[in-house]
Order: sequence, then C-alpha cells, then structure tokens
Amino acid sequence: MPDWDLLLTDTRIATMCADSPDYGVIDGPGAVAIKDGQIAWLGKQSELPDLVAAERRSLDGRWLTPALIDCHTHLVFGGDRAAEFEQRLRGASYEDIARAGGGIMSTVKATRTASADELFDAALPRVEALASEGVATVEIKSGYGLDIDTEIRMLNVARRLGRESSIDIRTTLLAAHTVPPEFKDNADAYVALVCERILPLVAERGLADAVDAYCESIAFSPSQVERLFQAATELGLPVKLHADQLSDSGGAALAASFNALSADHLEYTSLAGVDAMAASSAVAVLLPGAFLTLSETQLPPIDALRAKGVPIAVATDCNPGTSPICSLRTAMMLASRLFKLTPEECLAGATREAARALGVLADRGTLEIGKRADIAAWDIEHPRELAYWVGTPQLAERFTSAHTTRP
Ligand code: NIG
Ligand code: FE
Repeated sequence: MPDWDLLLTDTRIATMCADSPDYGVIDGPGAVAIKDGQIAWLGKQSELPDLVAAERRSLDGRWLTPALIDCHTHLVFGGDRAAEFEQRLRGASYEDIARAGGGIMSTVKATRTASADELFDAALPRVEALASEGVATVEIKSGYGLDIDTEIRMLNVARRLGRESSIDIRTTLLAAHTVPPEFKDNADAYVALVCERILPLVAERGLADAVDAYCESIAFSPSQVERLFQAATELGLPVKLHADQLSDSGGAALAASFNALSADHLEYTSLAGVDAMAASSAVAVLLPGAFLTLSETQLPPIDALRAKGVPIAVATDCNPGTSPICSLRTAMMLASRLFKLTPEECLAGATREAARALGVLADRGTLEIGKRADIAAWDIEHPRELAYWVGTPQLAERFTSAHTTRP
C-alpha cells in the first residue's frame, strides 16, 4: 500500500503563504506529495521523506503555485449586452442605460426566459475558460432572476456546474441585485420578498454559500441592505457586498459592521470605510475589469487599504454588462496596470486572498500540508510573470483535489 497517490518532483514552489515573504518561495528543487486529494507533504526535495508514491512524476523545473480562485463572478446568465456596449461607446452611461430599463434588467429578461439547460450550456464554456488558465475554484452569483423561480434556477445551474466541471463552485444569492419591474417604486416590498421567501427557501435547500447585495443609488439603499443582511445572518449565511462602485454610500462600513466576507468594487470607498474594513475581517475584492469597462476614473483607495492591512483580492466580475471578461489572468494584469498592484499582490489576490474572501482559506489558497491539492504548474521563469503576460499558454498542468483523489 503506497503512502502517497502522487509525488511531483523537480519543481519550483511558490506557496503564497502569508507569513513567507517573496511569494513564499521554497529554495531549491521542491517536491509535493498528494494523498486523497490533499497535500500530504511539500518542501525541499533534498528533505523528502523516504515514503512510497503510487505515481511519481518529474515536472522538469516548472513552477507550482496554488491553483487560481475567481472569487466574484456573475457567469450564469442569458443573452448578452453587446448592443449596450456599442451604446456606451457612443456616449450613454451605465446608469442612463439602467434607468431606461436596460443594463442588469435586460439580462434579467433574457435569463428569465432561458431554461436551466440553456443557462448551463452557455455557462460551461466560461467555467472551462477559467479552468484553462489555472483556476480551480469559482464563485458564481445569482441576481439575474429577481424572482423566486429564476433565482433558484440560477443557483441550481451553478451547483450543477460544480458537479459537472472540474471547478469547485461556491454560490452566492444576489437576489438584491436590482429592483425588478414588478416592484418598481416599491423596493421595500421586494426586499421583504427576498428576506421572507427567497432567502429562507435558498437556505433550506442549501443552494447558497453566501448572500450578496448591490448597494447603490440605482439598486438598494444601505437600510435595505441592512435588513437583508440581518435576515441572512439569522439564517447563518455569511454576507458580502457590491459596495461603493459608482458612489460612496457607506457600503464598505456597512459590510464591515456585519463582519462580511468581503466588500467588492470600492472605487468610492472613503477612508472611514477603509478603517471600518480594517477593524473587521472583510477582504477588499477589486474588480479592474468593471473599472475598465465603465471607463471609471475614480480609483479604489489602494494605498489606504494597504496601509491599514486590509487583505486585497482580485476577481474577474465576469458578467455581460460591466465586465465581459472570462479570464482571471487578464483581471490580474489589469489590477497591476490600472490599480498598480504589485505582481505578488495580484497573485496573492487570485489565490490566498480570494480564498479568504470566500471563507475557504482553511482548505485552499496557499500550498500547505493538509490543504486541497489544487495546484497550478506553470511554464514560467518566475511567478511575477503571471500578472505580466496574458493570452500566453503558460499553464502546463492543473491538479485539482477531485482529480488527484483516488477512488
Ligand atoms: O459587479 N454592480 C453590479 N453588478 C455587476 C454588474 C452586473 C451587470 O451589469 O449585469 C457588477 O459590476
Ligand atoms: Fe459584480
């Protein structure tokens, strides 16, 4: 009976552990042993214990990092918004289009009329595109249904993507994404429906790992979000928030006051909001794809987040309106160019801090003994290249906990 299922030798290892400087690099040739889908041993090859592996493979000096994690996506949706993309290039703003019934609502219309199979078939290639560049965990939000049936359908599709693809999916209920037309001028009644019917049903069926909302003048007010967060907290579900994307509504501080997993976007977050986040354990999830697509000029308060030690994650925000980007490597590249994150911050933001933002850092996000064997092997000379190149086939191989588990 072998001690390990798989032993990877002749590698260079960037553990991305928080307490190890410089990408958590292990000096010299390294080895990783996997057993039952978990990292059973890792370290310098010269210190490898004398144990037996069922399979042993040399990786010829390739770099290993934690597999990437996309912690904020809306990649289950019907239709697309390419026509609005053209409208915006002709001068219409995102808010103008939303107020005229387009924007999120046009995707809601297309999603409501799509079957579960149609939503699944459209989303699967997006998930596979992420996997092809080293991603092993993806968060997917609902929020294009805004009624009980469609919100549940979206979450079921997301769960099915987890079962039928090689990606581990974390799901988030975002029923409070925008006010549906049935509740026009009565957002409070819609919030009541979400709190009293949609949320309890989703919790009862175990369809969501977290609850999100869009706190913005074109969506929900802080007091409406507060009501939703109270209901989620009572059901034991963690919360996160689309906060301060287009204006400062105190979203970051509100999220922090509910001990949110994360506050996301944050372009207009004030220094008081950063302080509130620093006093909580919330992660700042930066979404440079949306910043770019909306031609935003107001930068998130990066220096203050850094100075106060708020953990920073980077995600695609993959969605048909504000971030038609299905590439986490592209989001990392944009975070370095637009937000001046260092390449190490970009990689940490798409591994360790993304895991923290999903509440799963205990079992993934860094390469450590006992964590899932979610590992990316790269044809690169240094991990800084991962925020530098886009579109190059640098992923040599992706190991996931599921595929290294022997039946
Ligand atoms: O993260 N900000 C709100 N939600 C999405 C946009 C969704 C959409 O426009 O369809 C975002 O940017
Ligand atoms: Fe989003």
